[in-house]
Parts: sequence; structure tokens; C-alpha cells
Amino acid sequence: MARIVITRPLPPEEIDVLRTAHEVVVHDIGPDNGGDEDRIIEALRGADAAITLLDNPVSARVLSACPGLKIVAQCAVGYDNVDVLAAKELQIPVSNTPGVLTDATADFTMALLLAAARRLREADRYLRDGRFRRWEMLELLGTGLSGKTLGIVGLGRIGSAVARRALGFGMRITYHDRGHSNPTKERRVVAHRVDFATLLAESDVITLHCPLNAESRHLIDASALARMKRGAILVNTSRGPVVDEAALVDALRSGHLAAAGLDVFEREPDLHPGLFELDNVVLAPHLGSATRETRRAMARMCVEAVTAALAGLDIPYRVA
Ligand code: DGY
Repeated sequence: MARIVITRPLPPEEIDVLRTAHEVVVHDIGPDNGGDEDRIIEALRGADAAITLLDNPVSARVLSACPGLKIVAQCAVGYDNVDVLAAKELQIPVSNTPGVLTDATADFTMALLLAAARRLREADRYLRDGRFRRWEMLELLGTGLSGKTLGIVGLGRIGSAVARRALGFGMRITYHDRGHSNPTKERRVVAHRVDFATLLAESDVITLHCPLNAESRHLIDASALARMKRGAILVNTSRGPVVDEAALVDALRSGHLAAAGLDVFEREPDLHPGLFELDNVVLAPHLGSATRETRRAMARMCVEAVTAALAGLDIPYRVA
């Protein structure tokens, strides 16, 4: 019987299948209750398999302290919290959950984009404050999307799904991606590849869908924000540190950017205090993949990966 440690509760109906053959220990470890490396080491010590979440630091130190691990199954598509180089060196396989959250995250990106462009947050407040006395011609005017340029940073699965949706809104799609050009995909999503400087200068809306790594950290900094069009909108459902949050607050406060829609933050779960004071930003607590269907599918993929690893079979969704 192997010992499987799960760092935080997952949909029980998916996890229960593991209990038929293994010991399953479910913790509740997060940044809000001291979920640092020591706490993760304490939880994972003696484990044969781990299922981790995106705010668990699975560092080289953690991995070295848990040499019995036959897999770290990350229950997210992003795995910037896992030191994959160390995992490779220590020969601990790592898996993630690609594909199943593409549509949910793309839908949520559009929700934030529409809410930011049409000032939904302010409109809701306006009504609740009792200010809706008559239909106004000049009140709460937003930005139309049809005919506008959407600049996508990262044309992977989620970026492409956003492109397909935005086409339905009549937007012109451009993208910047550090990977090789993929003409088939470009034709499918009708997207034009541009360099980063052009994307910044020409986009009416920029949406971020790149992984977090050394190159993408603070990709959207004060200088990038200054090069965006006056009145542009920024949407981020990727990872918070891709944006310099303090610089974004300045750009929103000065009115250089019209609005932003943010699902992710630089130091989750903390937000830059300036964000709370701004009316032109729509905020969500990292909900991109948060549908019942998607969260179950993510858990199911972790179960598949763990089951395969413990049986000595080829591990699906393996990234390292
Ligand atoms: C991910 O999977 O990386 C998302 O951020 C959460 O689902």
C-alpha cells in the first residue's frame, strides 16, 4: 500500500478511487496557514506520491527531503511552483493538467475582458448605491470590442481558445509568442504574429497567456505599460508576476490604461493595496479554471498520473 499525500482538498469523488488501493492523506496547506517549504516537507515526508497545488512551494529543498516520491502530480496546468530541474536531477517525475481547463480559462478571460470594457463593476455599484434614476445617454460609457485589436501574449492552448472567442466578438487578433511560428494554428485562429513592441503599440486590449518564467516575470512593467495605447485594457489570467502590479496601479490611476481585468496577482493571496481603491479594475481570486466540471477533470488527471507512477507505468501528462 503506497502513501499518497494531497496538500489540499480536491473533489472527493475523484480522489476516493485512490483509497481502494492506497493510503491517502489529505492536508489543508496553503499560504494562509504557514504553507512554506518546511510545512510541505513535513507533510510529504515518507510519501510515495504527492498531489500539489499551485501555491505549494515544491522547491529543490523539498524534493531532496522526500526522496521516496515516485511522482509529484501538480493539480494545475502551470507548474512554476515546482523546481522541475531539481525534479529531473532527483529523477522524481512531475505531471500537470493540460487541456481540461482551456475552455474554462478562456471563458473567464472573456468574462473579465467584457466586464472591464463595459465597466460592469462600476455599473453594479451604481445600481446598488441607488444612483439609477433614469436612462442616461452619457453615463458609464465603455469601450466597444468589434473592430478593435486584441493582442495575445502566448498563443498556446488557452491563448488560442481566447482568440477563437474574440473572433466571435469581431476583434482583429494579433499575438506574440516566444515559440516558433505555427502557420496552421495562425490560420485556424486568424491571428497575425507581431513582435512584442508592435503588440504593445497597436493593441486595444492585451491578454496574457504565457507561463511564468525568468523571461516573462514583469514582462508588463512600467516601460511596457507606457508603450501601450492610451485607453487600452489589460487582462491577466496567467500568472500574477508577469505584471508589475505597482506599475499597473500607476497606469490605471493615471488613466493611461482605461481598465484591467485581473484573475492573478503578484503575491497571491495579497494584492497591491492600490488595486482596491480603483474603480477601473475588475478583480477575481484566481478563478480561471473554477468550474465544477474542470476541477473534477483536473483531479482525475492527477489520479491517473499517480496511479500510473505507482504501478511503474508510463506517466501521462508528464512535464519532467
Ligand atoms: C492553472 O492550472 O495553472 C491555473 O492557474 C489554475 O487552474
